Amino acid sequence: MQQTADVTEELARRVVAAAGEALDVALTPEQALVQASPREGVDYQANLAMSLGKRLGRPPREVAALIAGALELGGIADPPEVAGPGFLNFALRREWLEDRTAALLGDPRLGVPETPAPRRIALDYSSPNVAKEMHVGHLRTTVIGDALARLLRFAGHEVLPHNHLGDWGTPFGMLIEHLLDAPAEQRAIADLDTFYREARRKFDSDEAFATRSRNRVVLLQRGDEETLAVWRELVAESTRHFDEVYALLEISLTGKDIYGESFYNPYLAAVVDDLERAGLTEISDGAVCVFPEGFRNREGDRLPLIVRKRDGGYGYAATDLATVRYWTAERGATDLLYVVGTPQAQHFAMVFAVCRAAGWLTGHAEHIGFGTVLGADGKTMRTRAGDTVKLADLLTEAVKQAAEVVAERSDLDAAGQAGVARAVGIGAVKYADLSGDRERDYVFAWDRMLAKEGNTSVYLQYAHARTQSILRKADGVPDGTDITLDMPAERTLALKLLSFGEALKATTNGYAPHKLCTYLYETAVIFSRFFEECPVLKASSPELRASRLRLTSLTSQTLALGLSLLGIEAPERL
Ligand code: ARG
Repeated sequence: MQQTADVTEELARRVVAAAGEALDVALTPEQALVQASPREGVDYQANLAMSLGKRLGRPPREVAALIAGALELGGIADPPEVAGPGFLNFALRREWLEDRTAALLGDPRLGVPETPAPRRIALDYSSPNVAKEMHVGHLRTTVIGDALARLLRFAGHEVLPHNHLGDWGTPFGMLIEHLLDAPAEQRAIADLDTFYREARRKFDSDEAFATRSRNRVVLLQRGDEETLAVWRELVAESTRHFDEVYALLEISLTGKDIYGESFYNPYLAAVVDDLERAGLTEISDGAVCVFPEGFRNREGDRLPLIVRKRDGGYGYAATDLATVRYWTAERGATDLLYVVGTPQAQHFAMVFAVCRAAGWLTGHAEHIGFGTVLGADGKTMRTRAGDTVKLADLLTEAVKQAAEVVAERSDLDAAGQAGVARAVGIGAVKYADLSGDRERDYVFAWDRMLAKEGNTSVYLQYAHARTQSILRKADGVPDGTDITLDMPAERTLALKLLSFGEALKATTNGYAPHKLCTYLYETAVIFSRFFEECPVLKASSPELRASRLRLTSLTSQTLALGLSLLGIEAPERL
């Protein structure tokens, strides 16, 4: 398998070595500030001379010239030009670029190395609530979390997914009683939201029912077997609904990934003991609390994390403390990632602070927040009736709308079209969710996400299908590995294909799927320019035709792999 450093890294290492020799400074490769250059005739630039000049008290252009003089480029690029205030401008050498591109052929990883330092990452995502329908907010955590799981695994890390189901707490008293009120043979729940609403209505209006519900909570917490059996029924009914959504979305979460809130019950008492023994707790208003340092409200009062409520019960925060302790101590996770909406940022910051103080957390923990899905009116997305949008309905609608888009110009039969409509519709919803900076809100708009032009999955899927159609017409890619980069459009395409690894690195390091989306979109645009300017099937010689088919095939593979890392299908025909 081809395992090479990417171009940026390779240039950076050489620049740093040259700086060390010419100026006697020790820099890290990042400090070389190498990046792809937008300038005409320049492929990469190194921007270190400006800051280095300041540090050394020497004119940056002089610093740049000294580095240039000491550079050992090993055939990668011509000696760099010093430009402007002190940029080092590199033009990669054609032969080197051709060889590098040829080396990608036949490599299923397209030249992207696996990390030399694999980590064991506990990834909390999706995490819906039992007896409530998954709504559009859970779309984001599910789609982003799934993409991150794929990206991190591809990078060579071990991913331990866990679905932190909201399956415990006081509402379960009324939910269990409501389920028990139904005749045994009618216990299947057709609609979770309706079920929840009915239970709530009875609880609010029927005093006897409310009393029964409160008693039921006590029984549940005491571990009463009969009560637990009904609770399990409720959880099973709900997960059946969730599994339908996961199947529609092609998300790999299964029953074995469920670590609901209830899972941590046996650990809660020990959490409190540990915290008390460490002297971290205080009693406030009858509740056991920890006041982590640095958290205050606007009035300047310290903020508590409630560990055990005044009535002896445990809540959301206590469960999350136990969760950290479990995944670090018992499962050996080196990293904890939580894909949860931005409103919970403070909750996680406080949980991490307490866990560090308690000594349960020494590694990396990060809350991967995301913004809200908005309707056309710029407010949180709702149905016309004003309800939250059910994910299952939304996805069904996506496939329906995609079917119309696909039918416009497809030569597939009905069955083929149905498969493609699924890939296009679900892909569009996922891509719309992934292609913007995740911290920002976005407006959900069918016409925009299903547009055939622009930064959409449909555009990428068409680009991929086009590469496949070219390869079919050519009867495959000829044997051999020669690549010719004569035309600027060929060169630009090759450079882009070679920077796939860099795009993936930036995506994975920043937990930022939108960076991969942008890369894939740019690749598709560059490919279409290449296809306009460089005849492939009718190239002027067999050698050139073969080379262009190889570039087409690499593009095809890049788009398909990139989309698959986002959890999006790339059908061969649309
Ligand atoms: N069930 C919660 C919700 O729907 C999300 C849980 C996130 N994970 C966690 N460990 N707190 O908002």
